[in-house]
Amino acid sequence: MNVIIDSDPGIDDAVALSVILNNPAFHVKLITTVAGNVTVDKTTKNALRLVEFFNMQTPVATGASQPLIKAFEDAARIHGESGMEGYIFPAIQSSPIKQTAAEAWHNVLVQSDEKVTLVLTGSYTNFALWFRQYPQDLAKIDRVLAMGGSICGGNMTSAAEFNVFTDPDAAKILLSAGLPITMVGLDVTLKAMVNQDWIHQVSAMNRSGKMLAALISHYNDIHAEGWPIHDANTIGYLCHPEFYQTKDVWVDIVTEGPAIGETVVDIRAAYHQGRTNATVLTDIDAARFRDWLQDQIAKMP
Ligand code: BDR
Ligand code: CA
Repeated sequence: MNVIIDSDPGIDDAVALSVILNNPAFHVKLITTVAGNVTVDKTTKNALRLVEFFNMQTPVATGASQPLIKAFEDAARIHGESGMEGYIFPAIQSSPIKQTAAEAWHNVLVQSDEKVTLVLTGSYTNFALWFRQYPQDLAKIDRVLAMGGSICGGNMTSAAEFNVFTDPDAAKILLSAGLPITMVGLDVTLKAMVNQDWIHQVSAMNRSGKMLAALISHYNDIHAEGWPIHDANTIGYLCHPEFYQTKDVWVDIVTEGPAIGETVVDIRAAYHQGRTNATVLTDIDAARFRDWLQDQIAKMP
């Protein structure tokens, strides 16, 4: 599967990137970065660190430093100052390519014979910028997997999930683009926790496991049951849709006021309106997801 992954690493993004870069089912054509968990210069450095850690040549392009309209607010309190605290990576040797994320998406898409799957694990600002600039590229997209939103409740505010909260105007553009979109939201990601035992096992597996375990141990998104590895569920769903339950729905985005960033999900839209604009994940077999993720890490260097 040809993939472009757009992310804001970010500790759970680092897990998602590690899995997608090492799983032979995916051909990652491009990694693009966006401001989110930390500033875009930091998320870009983190993407380069991961590509170098795995000795790969995957191009990295720098994306948006600001949301379309809303002021930028980071999540360094969750992911640490660098965005990937907890593991000391060697000094970075490579650089991002010269194109912006939108230009790089366009180049990959026009050059690709096959359709490309988009995996979005940060805010959707790069999607919005690319879509405005190159709407003719839409036909080259197979589908979009976007971590974000929820049917019920947020993690940034009581209404809003972080990625949608970061750039609600971009989320609105994503949902109106007419592409097949799967929203991988908090309804499942907050059930997909890993605990201390899981981390110890991963740490003992190999150098990738050691690195990822060190990062997760510094991840401040901590709950009674452990740490939610939100972004890795995009890849989990691509590999194993049978782990998840889904529903076709209508999603709209609140772009102002106290509920800014809320995903308003009409689960009755197919029945009452005869139209839907997204598939949302509604439930997960968390034990199978955890085992799968451990197995993915076991296969890494
Ligand atoms: C999302 O917010 C970010 O902090 C995580 O990386 C994930 O993409 C979860 O709400
Ligand atoms: Ca993320």
